[in-house]
Parts: sequence; C-alpha cells; structure tokens
Amino acid sequence: MNNFIFQNSTRVYFGKGCVKEYLACLTKGANTILLAYGGGSIKRSGVYDEIIEILRDAGKTVVEFPGIMSNPTYAKVQAGAKLARARGVEMILAVGGGSVMDCSKAISLAARYDGDIWDNFWARPGVIAVEPLPLGVIVTVAGTGSECNGGAVITNEEKRVKTGRDYPQLNPRFALMDPTYTYTVPQSQMVSGGFDILSHIMETYFSEPNRDNVSDDIMEALMKSVIRNLRVAMENPRDYTARSNLMWDATMAENRLIKMGKRCDFQCHNMEHQLGAYTNCNHGCGLAVLHPVYYRHIYRDGLPKFVRFAENVWGIARKGKSDEALALAGIDALAAFIRELGLPTTLRALGVRQEQLNEIARSCAISPGSYRQMTHEEILEIFQECYQ
Ligand code: NZQ
Ligand code: ZN
Repeated sequence: MNNFIFQNSTRVYFGKGCVKEYLACLTKGANTILLAYGGGSIKRSGVYDEIIEILRDAGKTVVEFPGIMSNPTYAKVQAGAKLARARGVEMILAVGGGSVMDCSKAISLAARYDGDIWDNFWARPGVIAVEPLPLGVIVTVAGTGSECNGGAVITNEEKRVKTGRDYPQLNPRFALMDPTYTYTVPQSQMVSGGFDILSHIMETYFSEPNRDNVSDDIMEALMKSVIRNLRVAMENPRDYTARSNLMWDATMAENRLIKMGKRCDFQCHNMEHQLGAYTNCNHGCGLAVLHPVYYRHIYRDGLPKFVRFAENVWGIARKGKSDEALALAGIDALAAFIRELGLPTTLRALGVRQEQLNEIARSCAISPGSYRQMTHEEILEIFQECYQ
C-alpha cells in the first residue's frame, strides 16, 4: 500500500427527515444565505418550499441563485460570486447534484478571492490562502459524491476546457442527505448517476497496487452494491433501501476513503470531461460509452485485476478459461450491464460529431495512474471505436 494522509472535514446528516431536523441548527450564525440550485427540479419536487420555510422561520435573509446548469460554467461561478459579494452573503446552501455543489464550491472561493480563480486554481493547482465562504449542501441526486470532498469540476467555455481540482478547504461544512429526495430523479439521470458511482470505483480499483489492500476489498463490495441497488431502483424508484444504498455508495466512492493507498487512474474521466467541454454531454452517459472500450485497450497491462473483477464482482466462473478470456468476460459483463441500464453505447448517440474527435482527443489530459499511459493517438483510436 502507498503512504497516505487522510482527513475528511464534512459532517454528514443522513436519512429520511434530516433536512427538517437539522437545517435550522446548521445555519445558525449566518444571517444571509445564498440558496444555489439548478433548473427548477427542487421547485417541482417540493424540496424548495420545505427549505424556504425552514430558513424563513429561522429569520434568514435568502438570496436566490437559481439556474446552475449541468456542466457548470466559469461564467456562472463569476455571476454567483458577484451576487454573494454584493449581498453580503455569509453562507452558501447548495441544493442539487454535482453541478450545483461544484459550482457552489467555486463560488465559495471566488467570493473571497480577489484574483482570477480559473487562472490560479483550475488552470493549474494552487494554494488556497483565503477562507472560502462556508458551504452546506443538500443532495438531491446520487452520483458524483461531491458532497463529501473538495472537488469541483468547472467548464471554461471560452477555453473549451472542463477540469476538476480538489481542495480540502472546499469540502462542504455539512451535507444533508435524505434518500427520499432522490425519488423524483428521472430514470435516465438515475442510471447515469449510478454509472458515475461505478466509474469512480472502477477508476480507483483498476490501478496499482494490485497486491492485497483493504481499498480493493471495499471497492468490490461497493461495486456489487451499486449494481444490485440500481437494478432494484430501476424496478421501484421509491425503494428506500435501494435509494439509501445508492446515495451512500456515491459518497463512499468519492469521500477519498477508497483512494487511500491507491494510485488511481481517472483516464476515462479526463476523456469524458473534454467530451463534455466540446459537446455538453451528460457526465455519466459519456463515461458509460468510454469504459468498456478503454478497458479492452488496457486489460492486458492490469490482467490480474481484470481477472479479479470478473470473478469477484460479476461472479464469472473460470471453467477452464484463460486469464485473458476471463478478463474479457468481465469487461463484456460490464458492457451488458450498461445496455441493461439503457445507457448510450456510442459517441454518436451522445451527440458528438465525428469531425470533432481529433481535436477533442488532443485536448485530453493524460493520466499518470493508468495501467498503461495513453497517448493522444490512442485516445483518438478509442474515440473512433466508440463512435458507432
Ligand atoms: O437542474 P435541475 O432542474 O435541478 O435538474 C437536475 C439536472 O437536470 C436533475 N435533478 C437533480 N436532482 C433531482 C433532479 N431531477 C428531479 N428530481 C431530483 N431530486 O438532475 C440533472 C443532473 O444534475 P447534475 O447536478 O448536473 O448531475 P450530477 O450530479 O451527475 O453532476 C454532474 C456534474 O458533476 C461533475 C460532472 O463532471 C458534472 O459537471 N463531477 C463532479 C465530481 C466531484 N465534484 O467530485 C466528480 C465527478 O466525476 C464529476 O466529474
Ligand atoms: Zn464522475
């Protein structure tokens, strides 16, 4: 196992009714609150009314910041920071999924920082020497795990770059997670978020070290949990047990715990982020298209782990199969699961144009943690194989 330091500063309040029970208490000390949310699902689901009532009863001044889009832009971050400064906001309350949480993390820094946060923190890693605005989150869709880390993925539309950075100072102070809030998530988004969870685990699992380590064991249990509970939630979207497990699987996948001692890959994330920067495609859908093809490119370089994946995650019996055949059977099982979920399987279906592939491939960051480091030429090959 590699050396590591572990800390996670976010306090989680999990379960049915947690917002009603804890929100007033958690916002004590802040009079003016920036309520950040997305395109309106919280108004349709009733979550907005519930939160407004709690905040108004507690005597808060609520400054609304709606309209945070999927794949949040740097321009939106700047607009949020400007509003927070102008209105003397003391705390940000982000209500939504990864996009709302990530945008709010960047706003929490931009509102307190005089320079350009893109140039100094996202274009390259920086050192945060200011105290960002306090941030609390209320999660409404399971997927990114952004509720329990300092990661924020932002799209700079002008530069056509979508990139994430993880600063511990941007961890939310608290995360309220009521699984019943996810009941209204459309199935297409539920499965894309579900695949994002699986991807976060696989991107960590398929990396050195391969020798016995507790993170790999936890990850096998988590992957099986995601697969099992997604199947249940597809059948019954209001299954509390399945929704709870998925919500916590998402947090467990990205609260940094499973990454301890692991090198981590995230090459598929690097590729998907640039597909997103050019086409605004859905994050989980992009990952679903890329993963099986990418794994067929690298499985020989991490063969023992791909064999383990086939046997321990998908329960495939060896029955005389060679290591290579077993590894490929595991990847085939993953591809079949993607089809079972109804996720897209081609870049064409995502709305990517063939003539864009070369430019997008050249813009992708290369992960040092992959079993085999990609070249831009190989990324282009992967994109072409994914095209149709
Ligand atoms: O915008 P509204 O109207 O709220 O609708 C949203 C949005 O259309 C809808 N939704 C959310 N909760 C709902 C609901 N609809 C009905 N009922 C509810 N309860 O879901 C749609 C997608 O929301 P979004 O936040 O965009 O999805 P997700 O959570 O998948 O976040 C995606 C973003 O997070 C980044 C992605 O790249 C992408 O930009 N990521 C962030 C990470 C992190 N911070 O650690 C890691 C990830 O790998 C990822 O890159
Ligand atoms: Zn992801």
